[in-house]
Parts: sequence; C-alpha cells; structure tokens
Amino acid sequence: MAKKKIGVLVGSLRRDSYSKKIAEHVAGLLAGEFEVEFVDIGGLEMYNQDFDLDNKVPESWQALRDQIFALDGFLFVTPEYNRSVPAVLKNALDVASRDVRKPFDGKPGAVVSVSPGALSAFGANHHLRQSAVFLNILMMQQPEAYIGNVVSVLDENGKVVNEGTDGFLKLIADSFIAWVNKF
Ligand SMILES: Cc1cc2nc3c(=O)[nH]c(=O)nc-3n(C[C@H](O)[C@H](O)[C@H](O)COP(=O)(O)O)c2cc1C
Repeated sequence: MAKKKIGVLVGSLRRDSYSKKIAEHVAGLLAGEFEVEFVDIGGLEMYNQDFDLDNKVPESWQALRDQIFALDGFLFVTPEYNRSVPAVLKNALDVASRDVRKPFDGKPGAVVSVSPGALSAFGANHHLRQSAVFLNILMMQQPEAYIGNVVSVLDENGKVVNEGTDGFLKLIADSFIAWVNKF
C-alpha cells in the first residue's frame, strides 16, 4: 500500500529558524512511516478574495491548493508572533481554504509550537487550533507539543541535543503516526 503523504508547514521564513530545525527533526522521525514533504508557503501572494471572485487565481495559490489537496495530513510547526500565528502561516491557511475542493477537510493534523521563551508559543498553538476547527483539520489533542526555551535544546548545528526534548519529540511523532493511521 502506498505510504500516506504528510505535509509539513513551518510558520517561519527565517533562515536559521528554530521552528524549521524542530520541524526537520520531527519530519525525520515520521519519514519511516510516511512520505513527508515540506510545503513552501513563503512565496504566496497575500490573500485577496477578489482574485477568487474574478477567477484570477495566482499560480502560487493554485500550486499550494493542489499540493494541500493531495496530502493526507499536516504537521504544523510554528513560532508565535505577538501571541498568535505568524501571518505567513495564516495566509497559507486562508489561501488553501478557499479552494472549492476543501483541501483540509477531514484530514488529521498536529501542531508543535516553538519559542525561545518560556511560554512555548502557547498563544500561536491555540490560535492555530481555532482555525483548524473551522477548516475541519482533525488536530491531535494529546499529547500537546509546546517547545519552550528552544535555544537551550539545540546545538550550534541546529540538532536537538537535549535528551528530554528528544524523547518528547519522539513521543509526539509516534502519537501523530498513530493518529494519522486511524483515518
Ligand atoms: C514580529 C515578532 C513577534 C514576536 N512575538 C512573540 C510572541 O508573541 N511570543 C514569543 O514567544 N515570541 C515572540 N517573538 C520571538 C520569536 O519567538 C523568535 O523570534 C523566534 O526565534 C521566531 O521563530 P523562528 O526561530 O522559528 O524564526 C516574536 C518575534 C517577532 C519577529
């Protein structure tokens, strides 16, 4: 049987993004079970409903919508901007959500929030869950994944070196594998 395809959406475009490093780590843990691909959300025009109404959908939107439609589940790894989801990730959700095929509908997801601070991007994690309710992305409820003080768990090459975090991310990956395989 063909492997399920999981898309990884990272809420940061920063070259040295901690979120991206955590995402790469978790993607590696999922790769034995699923086909895992990163979804590029950095080049999307900002959502403007006129483009849909006038039938002038930008190529970048169509590519994202096709990619999301073809995926079986989603791993979101995001920092927090001003206690919410960074605009680049919210924009990707908005763009993909207005596809008539409803590309997120009924598919499993999980969110890992990442911050150099102690509050672990809780606000972004839960704002993303709020949007997921409307999109009908079936977000894994437990275990919740909040990675705080992220700088202290990575080495200078961006590898996870903290044993506790390593074990926790393995638990998240295993739980997500079990969650996706329920569908
Ligand atoms: C516009 C902006 C807003 C931010 N707001 C928050 C915030 O609300 N909570 C938080 O924990 N960190 C906040 N930060 C700090 C980010 O967590 C930090 O820059 C982090 O490294 C970004 O994630 P990345 O490493 O994946 O790019 C903010 C950073 C920026 C640039």
